[in-house]
Amino acid sequence: MSLKFRYSLLLAITVFLLLAFTEETPYIQFVTPKGWPQPVYDFSKNKPSDEKYKLGRHLFYDPVLSRDSSTSCSSCHLQFSGFTHVDHALSHGINGLKGTRNSLTLFNLAWSKNFMWDGGVNNLEVQPINPITNPVEMDQDLPGLIKKLNASAYYRQRFYKAFGDSVITSQKLLKALAQYMVMLESYNSRYDKVMRHETGAVFTDAEQHGYELFKMHCASCHAEPLFTNRGFENNGLPVDTELRDIGRMKITGLKSDSLKFKVPSLRNCELSYPYMHDGRFRNLDMVLTHYTQGITISQNLSPALRKPVVMNDSEKKDLIAFLKTLTDKEFMYDLRYRNYLKE
Ligand code: HEC
Ligand code: HEC
Repeated sequence: MSLKFRYSLLLAITVFLLLAFTEETPYIQFVTPKGWPQPVYDFSKNKPSDEKYKLGRHLFYDPVLSRDSSTSCSSCHLQFSGFTHVDHALSHGINGLKGTRNSLTLFNLAWSKNFMWDGGVNNLEVQPINPITNPVEMDQDLPGLIKKLNASAYYRQRFYKAFGDSVITSQKLLKALAQYMVMLESYNSRYDKVMRHETGAVFTDAEQHGYELFKMHCASCHAEPLFTNRGFENNGLPVDTELRDIGRMKITGLKSDSLKFKVPSLRNCELSYPYMHDGRFRNLDMVLTHYTQGITISQNLSPALRKPVVMNDSEKKDLIAFLKTLTDKEFMYDLRYRNYLKE
């Protein structure tokens, strides 16, 4: 064998291996980080595939899902803020109509048992029906949407690629959207790196002190590693007299659930302002003022907050410094979550 031939053979083998390797490496894969509970989402009924994921992503960013093609899921769920909106308290939908609640962040949804501030939806594959059909969100009836999508040769081809069948049904639409949402995972904040003992990852003294305060005052509800106990709690917010949102009781009808709301994850909370179900607090200082001075005592107030939370200004600062270590830049800038409408 001549040297030249050997070299070209080597090159050919390398190219072949590279191609084979890229073929087999999935574009995105679900990860259960070490030490986390088992996800709740049932992947066996919606086997992950790149095609379904990319279709779901396309749908998430496509305003065609709304009646007048003005509003997409991403209008209210923006990646740079942890997939919520930041400029206003209550979400704005079609025609600028105002909703009644602040948009929730979207990440680590595979661990959620209940969705929405009141837990009114218990399956991620059903959840999108809510915003799509809500008159102040996307105001699009489902059969009408399915008709619109089936009229699109582009979408028929995308659904064919994803599901092996070009007939678009609401079930396939919802499965594709769920595939996208379930892959939105945030577990690479500095907090995570410190916990994993990664080289160079350390807390400052202020952050460490803030972490101690967090464990003392907040962790019973905002439990690690998800930073939510995944339950519903009354955290002492005075009721908004205009909206009169009773939270969980709206779903269960139980008095004991009055003014209880889903405990939101605090991951990425540096960027997901405004806060609470009605977006009443613009910043984390205001949140801490609430927990230290603003608790409304009521029958349903969670036991964890019955004893006053006492913190001086320097302690509050340290606690906020800790909360900011939960910001996950890798998640915020992950290109695989971005808008690829043109693709
Ligand atoms: C007009 C703004 C708006 C649009 C458009 C919108 N959402 Fe939302 N989203 C919200 C609000 C507000 C909530 C909280 C609703 C509640 O608690 O009643 C929410 C909640 C959710 C939740 C629950 C998260 C959790 O942790 O419980 C999911 C999932 C979600 N939206 C996905 C979507 C999808 C998918 C679309 C597109 C089909 C979409 N949203 C469109 C505003 C919007
Ligand atoms: C008794 C349970 C409980 C405790 C203890 C608790 N929280 Fe909360 N937290 C909640 C609930 C429930 C909500 C949502 C309330 C709502 O919107 O009506 C919430 C919301 C928040 C939010 C807003 C998040 C968002 O996305 O809107 C922040 C920030 C927050 N809490 C921080 C803290 C901090 C910091 C502490 C400790 C000082 C703390 N919480 C202690 C239950 C609790």
